[in-house]
Amino acid sequence: MGGAIDSIPCLTADAIGSALTRVTTLRRVKATIELLPPRLYGEAVELWCETGLTRPWNDPEADLRKAMTGSASTVLAAVADDVLLATAMVGHDGHRGWVYYLAVRPGHQRHGLGRAIMGACEEWVSARGIAKIQLMVRLGNEPVIAFYQRLGYIDAEVVVLGRRLDAESP
Ligand SMILES: CC(C)(COP(=O)(O)OP(=O)(O)OC[C@H]1O[C@@H](n2cnc3c(N)ncnc32)[C@H](O)[C@@H]1OP(=O)(O)O)[C@@H](O)C(=O)NCCC(=O)NCCS
Repeated sequence: MGGAIDSIPCLTADAIGSALTRVTTLRRVKATIELLPPRLYGEAVELWCETGLTRPWNDPEADLRKAMTGSASTVLAAVADDVLLATAMVGHDGHRGWVYYLAVRPGHQRHGLGRAIMGACEEWVSARGIAKIQLMVRLGNEPVIAFYQRLGYIDAEVVVLGRRLDAESP
């Protein structure tokens, strides 16, 4: 952990690690990291739009609901005074953990929230007996690559190949 974060170790997780609440004090923010509560679903989708994470061929609301109802996924949130400051969708395929929709509210970036919520994702994945976590970053997105590198993530040197299975999408 870098100097930005002074975590209060009050993680509470149930036997299978499905609940997760942590109070984290950052440079200027005291936030709770918890499962995204339904009252903040709308704010989460707004945050994803605001931070440029949505694409016309993806429905972020449907993505969110799938993640929240799936048995191997969830969305974590950093919340302060009932305001959503950051999110990360985390899940696993039985072999690796994956992170999507990592976003920190623009006015609260560079205060350690991204690092804190990624730490919570790592714990969520680890608690399920999965030894590796990974994510995809669009080529050329150097600032985000620099962020992940600060957290110890390295280029896996793989090419991701994909194919749409729904006719309407590019
Ligand atoms: C990427 C993002 C989540 C980072 O969150 P953040 O709260 O600003 O990051 P943190 O403050 O926790 O930074 C953690 C470390 O990364 C570094 N860092 C953060 N952003 C950086 C950047 N753009 N360039 C270089 N380093 C960066 C910080 O200096 C810090 O280093 P330190 O702890 O060793 O001092 C945030 O910028 C964001 O929401 N961006 C828009 C959405 C997005 O692109 N998400 C990623 C999709 S793949």
